[in-house]
Amino acid sequence: MVNRIFLLLLVLISVCGEETGMINAGKAADIDYSDIAGEAERHKNDILKFLNQTRVQEKYKTMYKCLLSKLLGSTRRIVSGRNTSIAAVPWQVSLREKTYPICGGSVITDLWLLTAAHCLLRARSSELTVRLASSWKTHGGEMYDVKECFVHPRYVSKTKVNDVGLVRLYTPLRFTEKVLPIKLVARESRLLADVPAIVSGWGKLQEGGPSATYLQSSTIKTVAMKLCKRTGLDRNAIDPPSMFCAGSFTQPSPDACQGDSGGPIVYDGVLIGVVSWGLGCARGNFPGVYTRLSHPVIWDWVNGYISKKEDS
Ligand SMILES: *[C@@H]1O[C@H](CO)[C@@H](O)[C@H](O)[C@H]1NC(C)=O
Ligand SMILES: *[C@@H]1O[C@H](CO)[C@@H](O)[C@H](O)[C@H]1NC(C)=O
Repeated sequence: MVNRIFLLLLVLISVCGEETGMINAGKAADIDYSDIAGEAERHKNDILKFLNQTRVQEKYKTMYKCLLSKLLGSTRRIVSGRNTSIAAVPWQVSLREKTYPICGGSVITDLWLLTAAHCLLRARSSELTVRLASSWKTHGGEMYDVKECFVHPRYVSKTKVNDVGLVRLYTPLRFTEKVLPIKLVARESRLLADVPAIVSGWGKLQEGGPSATYLQSSTIKTVAMKLCKRTGLDRNAIDPPSMFCAGSFTQPSPDACQGDSGGPIVYDGVLIGVVSWGLGCARGNFPGVYTRLSHPVIWDWVNGYISKKEDS
């Protein structure tokens, strides 16, 4: 009995790694995707199928729980976020216009990145680049050029309904422990209320303040639609099929902020949403609003592009 418990502990420790320092700058990451990265690279011709495997999803879930436990253990206050190594959220990218960072995004296949539609409206693909594999906003990692970008045809800029866009790279990514795709949430899957999700990005550290130079992430809770409509947000501005709310009602609480737009919100190892809009940042009574990726109008559009076999 004692032996088994001891073994179990060992397994847990080796999965999550050392208890200290990992999320901080410069320290070795102990959320380690390197084994899955090698496999992903070998299976990149059929990456959606690879990500769809139960075994692979279990791995992502485990890593997600590791990060969650690290973040929950913190009292530090994206706003109220915590320095996070890119190795803990290797799907996170920084989208740039020329050299200026404009938005976040997520790797979903070796060629496709997902972001918010509103990030792509003004931009010309020839001027867009992407930085991956770096925890730093302004240096490190690898830069990729953008071949094309697409805005959801039913995106409405005035209301931000269907706020989703796709970015196609010229050359396929090489997957490493710092560059990995994340699986999209299942079509029409129901999002539970009041569950912790992880949001990440280099956005502003506080409303009106400077943006982060080192990647930040924090846990926030999904908010039931009924409750969300009773917050300070304009209830008519929320379109439940294509949006969901997450945040907290306590005073200055973790939230996504300007510059985090287009970035990932992850629950249980899958990508459930895209940072879309809010009122200010972390103002207590205003949860953030996210694009609901399980919505068929959104999911079908995204999946239509990414599951197409490339002819070039
Ligand atoms: C993913 O798995 C589910 C069932 O496990 C299956 O119905 C679906 O077709 C799979 N999708 C892909 C892209 O392989
Ligand atoms: C986060 O990283 C930045 C840049 O390295 C550093 O200046 C800051 O002290 C770090 N914050 C914490 C809380 O570790």
